[in-house]
Amino acid sequence: MDLQLAPAPDGSQAGLEIPRLLGHVPALEDDIEKVLISEDEIQSTVRRLGDEITRDYAGRDLLLVGVLKGAFVMMGDLSRHIRLPLEFDFMAVSSYGAATKTSGVVRILKDLDHEIEGRNVLLVEDIVDSGLTLAYLLKNLRTRRPASLEVCALLHKTAMQQVDVDLRYVGFQIPPEFVVGYGLDYAERFRNLPYVATLKPAAYQDTPE
Ligand code: IMP
Ligand code: MG
Repeated sequence: MDLQLAPAPDGSQAGLEIPRLLGHVPALEDDIEKVLISEDEIQSTVRRLGDEITRDYAGRDLLLVGVLKGAFVMMGDLSRHIRLPLEFDFMAVSSYGAATKTSGVVRILKDLDHEIEGRNVLLVEDIVDSGLTLAYLLKNLRTRRPASLEVCALLHKTAMQQVDVDLRYVGFQIPPEFVVGYGLDYAERFRNLPYVATLKPAAYQDTPE
C-alpha cells in the first residue's frame, strides 16, 4: 500500500502529473500542490476492497453506513464492487468546520434512518486522522447493538492517530498532511477531484474562514 509517486526528471519525488479535467476544474487545480494518489490507484484499490468485502460478507446481511459528506464518492464506487445484496444508510457528522485540524468535538448532524440492531454494519469513512471522529461514532453505534460493526476507510494518517481504532479495511496509509479530492474537502471545495492531492499554502490563505 505504499504510495507510488512518479519521480520528477531531476529524480526527486515531485508527485504525479496533475491531470487536466473538465472545463471548470482547472480553477481548482491551480490550488493543487501535488497528486498523492492517482485516480487509477484509487480505482484499483477500491476494487480490491470491494472484492475483500464481497468475500467476507458472502451469505450475510450487509448494511453500508456512509459518513457524510466525505465518504459519498467512495460509497458510490465501493458499493459497485461489492457483489452482494446490501442496503445503504448515512450519517452526517461535523468535526472540523472549515479548519484543517481536528477539535475532538463531534456533532451528529444527521442520524441513521433505520435501526441497526442485529445488522452487520460496515462503516465507510473517507479518512481517519486523529481517530476521534471514528471512536465517537463506533461507541455511539455499538450502543445500538449491531450483530457486527467494522470500518472501511479509504485513507489512514498513521502518524497522527491519537485514538486506537480497529480498521478492518484500509485503502492507503498516507503521511500526516492535509489532503483533498475523492470526497475530501477543504472548506467544502475539491470534493469532485478524482484523485487525492495536497494543496499549495496559498489555497488556505485565499479561503475565508
Ligand atoms: P479525525 O477525527 O481527526 O480522525 O478526523 C476525521 C474527519 O476529519 C474526516 O472524516 C474528515 O472529514 C476530516 N479530515 C481529516 N483529515 C482530513 C484531510 O486531510 N482532508 C480533509 N478532511 C480531513
Ligand atoms: Mg471535511
